Amino acid sequence: MSGTEAEALRVRLRTTPALTGPFPAFEVSRAEAAPGPLFLRWLTEALDDGVPEPHVTTLSTADERGRPSARVLMLRDVDPDRCAFRFASEAASRKGRELAANPYAALSWYWPRHGRQIRAAGPVAVLDRAAARADFLGRGEASRISGFTGSMSAPLESEGAYADARERARRTVAAEPEAVPDGHTVYELRAEEMEFFQGDPARFHRRLCYHRQDGNWTSGLLWP
Ligand SMILES: Cc1cc2nc3c(=O)[nH]c(=O)nc-3n(C[C@H](O)[C@H](O)[C@H](O)COP(=O)(O)O)c2cc1C
Repeated sequence: MSGTEAEALRVRLRTTPALTGPFPAFEVSRAEAAPGPLFLRWLTEALDDGVPEPHVTTLSTADERGRPSARVLMLRDVDPDRCAFRFASEAASRKGRELAANPYAALSWYWPRHGRQIRAAGPVAVLDRAAARADFLGRGEASRISGFTGSMSAPLESEGAYADARERARRTVAAEPEAVPDGHTVYELRAEEMEFFQGDPARFHRRLCYHRQDGNWTSGLLWP
């Protein structure tokens, strides 16, 4: 990249607006006593107001040496009473291997239309095969074919190998519509800490965090 191009890019990055609002108010003094119900309220508002893909969440994991990795995936279920979040993936994928070695992770959401960011962190458990089966068989055909294509996160030697694997997966799904790949796994992150960030166009942001201790939630503000 030339110096002029680099400067043009820097200008674009610095002049592209963010957190422009208007955003909903967040009266932290009247916030829910536990984060699960507050998450549910904000998620419901995002769904109701047409925030694009509010169920897409960033999952951050770390390997056994503490090196982090992050990717987006779909939030499949929420239990606000237990403050538990479910997502599904392939056990042999990078995230699956990292969660096996270090079963602790973080989820984060950013909903630009509402200027809201939410963070959750806690231990991650693998749910039983019945949960994996119900999750997988509830998917559309394209998703099930994708699930049977396999080898998530492994190096792919050629586009042709991928096309062949997809064709084999398509035949498997057509012949055995009730089949579930062995590695398909539903994970549940049970939050021990959560944070709710309400952005403000005037940069008078609010941050409210919650911690679970001995089964009870405590909350407090953070300096933005
Ligand atoms: C919008 C979107 C939704 C996705 N949903 C999922 C999902 O629910 N589960 C999943 O395993 N991967 C999902 N992916 C793919 C992941 O981002 C990622 O590429 C894949 O899981 C491999 O990640 P890993 O190598 O870190 O394990 C999604 C990607 C996008 C862009």
